[in-house]
Amino acid sequence: MCFLSLQDRKWEIERFFQERTEVLAAWPSGRGVDLEEALAYHRGLPKEKVAYYKLLKGQAEGRIYLQPRAGVALIDEHIALLRSLEKEGEADFLPTTVDSYTRQNRYSEAARGIKESKAADRSLLNGLPAVNYGVKNCRRIIEATGVPVQVRHGTPDARLLAEITLAAGFTDFEGGGISYNIPYAKDVPLERSLLHWQYVDRLCGFYAEHGIIINREMFGPLTGTLVPPFISHVVGIIEALLAAGQGVKSIAIGYGQGGNLIQDAAALRTLARLGRSYLDRFGYSDVLLTTVFHQWMGGFPQEEPRALGVIAWGAATAALAGANKVIVKTPHEAMGVPSLEANLAGLLCTRQVLRMLAEQRVPETPELAEEESVIEREVREVFDRVLELGEGDLAVGTVRAFEAGVLDIPFAPSRAARGGIMPVRDASGAIRLLDTGNIPLSAEIKDFHRKKIEERGRQEKREPGLRMVIDDIYAISKGRLVGKPR
Ligand code: 5AD
Repeated sequence: MCFLSLQDRKWEIERFFQERTEVLAAWPSGRGVDLEEALAYHRGLPKEKVAYYKLLKGQAEGRIYLQPRAGVALIDEHIALLRSLEKEGEADFLPTTVDSYTRQNRYSEAARGIKESKAADRSLLNGLPAVNYGVKNCRRIIEATGVPVQVRHGTPDARLLAEITLAAGFTDFEGGGISYNIPYAKDVPLERSLLHWQYVDRLCGFYAEHGIIINREMFGPLTGTLVPPFISHVVGIIEALLAAGQGVKSIAIGYGQGGNLIQDAAALRTLARLGRSYLDRFGYSDVLLTTVFHQWMGGFPQEEPRALGVIAWGAATAALAGANKVIVKTPHEAMGVPSLEANLAGLLCTRQVLRMLAEQRVPETPELAEEESVIEREVREVFDRVLELGEGDLAVGTVRAFEAGVLDIPFAPSRAARGGIMPVRDASGAIRLLDTGNIPLSAEIKDFHRKKIEERGRQEKREPGLRMVIDDIYAISKGRLVGKPR
């Protein structure tokens, strides 16, 4: 395959259909995809089952939607699970979390997982192998539920998964060429995942050209480990612009809770503003932009009541700061794939807090204003450099920026990331950079980070360093936000 073709330019439809033959041939269920039939099916969906319309309405009404994560190996059980999450959990959006084999395009192994799950009478996969089930079976999920269903995964090459699930009637698809590669894979070149995600976005663009708007959500939390807001913002904004470039008309950008209320509020508010301003600046004013808040994505406490405390704090943050949707954790987080009951607990706990705080907003303080202005400056400084590196082409710039460490993601497994930065919390728990690596931040911003970290060092009477970082990584699972010296 020739990757020289990576450019931030809308694919000619001929190029898309040329590649499509190969995509659909990768597994027998690819033959079941019929775009004309899919368009007709989408046209017949009631608006309350279409993510785009629901998000549009929710944004206009200032609502915060809730969405769990869920996916099991057997489709009947998966449908029963989703129906319970909708009915008993009052989920506004439903998920279909896809298993790890499918995420790596290992469909034969997924097939074995289905077989063994049937024999064992319990799910032996960590999600639904949607490609194996094909269009017809996946459509049963859409038929059996009354709210929009989103595909959630972590797949560098999601072309066939997108073809099948969108044709089945899913109206929402998560992921992007950066956020579903760097945190998830080790050896997938960034050019390749960006190209494969251009395909997914072009497919959504094709649907849009025929009046069907698919929502695309960018995975904000990245590695879920002390990611400073500006980093996930830049990544999300780049993915949003690349998606819009392929004709996507509804985009959500995610952000993972850090834990400090002021920083999280500043992050959510700047994400909405910056995202909008970049989309407008690049000529995508007609694209709907919404924000998604992920409750804490790092390590959780083992004990369920403690985990619910973490979940409630995430709910409070979302309520006070504002977001269009919250992705809800469960009290089983430290244990693995949650049961239905654990999922319901997370949803109900979150709903309770959201409703109680519905009339309250985070106060407008100088601290909040400062935090917002720092994030905005950081995003601008890095984004400008990315575009410069690409000589005006954002896709090319992204590849070069990751090579140079101008874009970097903490604790990423991918060889495509430099891994030159080191985050740590400051005295109040906000996430800062102890080492800024090659990220082109101005002296003033670097100073801001350094001073904040020094302040914590003085309070704890220790030199900020790797020990402190490790304490932070384990802090929440041990009952605190800021890791304390032992
Ligand atoms: N069902 C429910 N939650 C899942 N997660 C991953 N797979 C599933 C699944 N099949 C959750 C993890 C973690 C997040 C990244 O996704 O528990 O919270």
